[in-house]
Amino acid sequence: MPFARLAAATTPTARIGIGLAAVGRPGYITLGRESDLPPSRSVEALRERTFELLDAAYASGVRYVDVARSYGRSEEFLADWLHARPDNRDVVVGSKWGYTYTADWRTDVEGPHEVKDHSVAAYDRQRAQSAGLLGDRLDLYQIHSVTPESPALTDKELHARLAGLAAEGVTVGLSVSGPGQAAAIRAALEVTVDGEPLFRTVQATYNLLEPSAGPALAEAHDAGLTVIIKEGMANGRLAAPQAPAPLREVAEGTGFDCDAVALAALLREPWAGVVLSGAATSVQLVSNLHAAAVDLDADRLERLTGLVEEPGEYWARRAALPWH
Ligand SMILES: NC(=O)c1ccc[n+]([C@@H]2O[C@H](COP(=O)([O-])OP(=O)(O)OC[C@H]3O[C@@H](n4cnc5c(N)ncnc54)[C@H](OP(=O)(O)O)[C@@H]3O)[C@@H](O)[C@H]2O)c1
Repeated sequence: MPFARLAAATTPTARIGIGLAAVGRPGYITLGRESDLPPSRSVEALRERTFELLDAAYASGVRYVDVARSYGRSEEFLADWLHARPDNRDVVVGSKWGYTYTADWRTDVEGPHEVKDHSVAAYDRQRAQSAGLLGDRLDLYQIHSVTPESPALTDKELHARLAGLAAEGVTVGLSVSGPGQAAAIRAALEVTVDGEPLFRTVQATYNLLEPSAGPALAEAHDAGLTVIIKEGMANGRLAAPQAPAPLREVAEGTGFDCDAVALAALLREPWAGVVLSGAATSVQLVSNLHAAAVDLDADRLERLTGLVEEPGEYWARRAALPWH
């Protein structure tokens, strides 16, 4: 169980992980990409940015890295970095299969830059690709963005394949997405192979605007799964300057920036194992990591509860974010 290694880590930031969705490919949905990324988003420029972020994260005590087959070259960049930093054996690596990157390193493609396929054939193909890049450094393999209607929740042949992967020593998990996250999580908790629960981790969107998966995530934690929080910054909506006024006011009182406060609120959840930073620059990363030091008392937390949006509206707005 790779997360036992994280539990044993003693750095103050060990519960914060870094995701490479924003830097593994030129196009993504977070808001400030024009100013965050190097003017040329060439493969070499983004490889360099990824190395810079991973070096800064490791030096600051981050020990979990989140990638996916569909995040462009994120697995390749991470594999190269791990190869170049052989002493960093305590880094825990999670990847995902189930989406294929289709934008061919372009930003001007209409609509999403990835196509979903949760079939056994897609698993077999992507598992081989991840193994080719990450080899035995892959600790966790997650089904990418499961929704309640996903065939991955009922496909017995797929479940047998994933149980085989677990038998090889790779932890099996899933990520969930959309307004039905709670239902998908609860359905996943029921999936067993030979009487044993299949999924050992669950990654879900949870933030000050969209906390509706919270009770289901608490149930997952109680059932023994490690919970990984993604999109804690609501894709950048909770960072200054676009952060909502109550968050800006609370942040001012703490002396930290909005992003650190937004992530600090998530770290307080007793069921949250890992909170992901999606930083695109080292400056953002350092600010995100301040989350571990923010003092969020009950009064401040109470003032942040008013930010919650209706899940359907939140997800409609997220779906409308342009890839750029
Ligand atoms: N279905 C899935 O499994 C799934 C889906 C999404 C994400 N993830 C994982 O979760 C990770 C995080 O998610 P995410 O990046 O999509 O969303 P996020 O964490 O909600 O947002 C990250 C973005 O917030 C902005 N930001 C952060 N700190 C900032 C600061 N100090 N100042 C200004 N802006 C700041 C940056 O975007 P801008 O500066 O560009 O605004 C950054 O790219 C990903 O890397 C990925 O590993 C998984």
